[in-house]
Amino acid sequence: MSFRLGIIGAGGIAAEHAKAAGALGIEIAGFCDVVPERAEQLAGQYPGAKAVEKVEDLLALKDMPAVAVTTPNCFHKPHAIAALEAGKDVFLEKPMGMDVAECDDIIDTMDKSGRIVQVNLICRNSPTALVVSDLIQAGRLGRIYHAKASWYRRRGIPGLGRWFTTRSQAGGGVLIDLGVHKIDLVMHLAGHPKALRASGHVTGKFGSPPEKYTYTEMWAGPPNLKGVFDVDDGAIGLVRFENDMTLEVNVTWAANLPGGVYPDGVALMGDKGGCFFELWGDRVMLATEEDGYLVDVKPHVAPEELWNGAWKRQYEMFTRAVVDRIRPQASAEDGRTVQAVLDALYRSSREGREVEVG
Ligand SMILES: NC(=O)c1ccc[n+]([C@@H]2O[C@H](COP(=O)([O-])OP(=O)(O)OC[C@H]3O[C@@H](n4cnc5c(N)ncnc54)[C@H](O)[C@@H]3O)[C@@H](O)[C@H]2O)c1
Repeated sequence: MSFRLGIIGAGGIAAEHAKAAGALGIEIAGFCDVVPERAEQLAGQYPGAKAVEKVEDLLALKDMPAVAVTTPNCFHKPHAIAALEAGKDVFLEKPMGMDVAECDDIIDTMDKSGRIVQVNLICRNSPTALVVSDLIQAGRLGRIYHAKASWYRRRGIPGLGRWFTTRSQAGGGVLIDLGVHKIDLVMHLAGHPKALRASGHVTGKFGSPPEKYTYTEMWAGPPNLKGVFDVDDGAIGLVRFENDMTLEVNVTWAANLPGGVYPDGVALMGDKGGCFFELWGDRVMLATEEDGYLVDVKPHVAPEELWNGAWKRQYEMFTRAVVDRIRPQASAEDGRTVQAVLDALYRSSREGREVEVG
């Protein structure tokens, strides 16, 4: 059950792809990056892996049925389409595209090519999300009527001043970056109800620090204080679903909010029970009723490396899709569904009113 994988883009998340794939015995055929040293640096860690600068050179490598696309968001569509047209299955980073029209183009090419696209909606495979999924399947929540999902960073703008904070390359800011995970996770756990309407508001307050940016976490850094920042670093949204379920989402890359005051995680309220769980921690709490008493249950989450365990499951799922030719659980259609909600929230914010989800 193995195959050779190429990786387009050799930045921060590409290293995670290679590590997870390599740990499962998937051979890394090569890396491609417009910055040659990045591809060379990663290729040096995987025996036999090539380092190339051009996507077409990577796609020309022999006996390589699949690629991971880990480039900035604006390249997801062209790189996914090039790979599909070259006959490759694609493990595509989130968000699937810059907007829903791009997702439709990818799906169109996927359908014509007969190849497979899996989107890296990795939060579905966090250990706590899996426990909650079991609780839901066992009927412990009943019908879910409301969800709250939040991810607060006090100062954690990724690559401030670089592609992550440039609308033409990222498509948006924290909403498209972190919101995509939270919204997809809630829809996934709730059984994929159809989103009907959305009301959103986004802000961008922390991207132009006068001379110094003090941060608590940094991804794809260091900050470039003279670079572009024209995206959101805070977003709120309310989404209404056809089954009367509502979702309230709050995500920030940066906020003036004392740490620990508001919990980071997902709360799901059902008519039989409710739960709260941290995404990348080990806390799951179930609020239920037993024998006429209100009871809080704390299921034990099996200790494992949180992040690495989720990555392992992502690549096991992709392997099954590639080898057995089955549609992956985190499918292109799911990537498109969550992108439609993101598009609606951004549109709502621009227009200052609730809008239909397209
Ligand atoms: N699933 C997750 O949890 C998760 C986490 C982080 C990032 N991501 C996603 O992964 C993608 C990449 O993010 P990152 O943090 O690795 O960014 P990054 O900036 O660290 O890496 C991107 C790499 O792509 C290269 N690149 C840019 N244009 C290219 C081109 N035309 N051809 C080949 N290479 C090119 C860059 O030189 C860089 O090395 C983004 O879409 C991001 O949203 C997902």
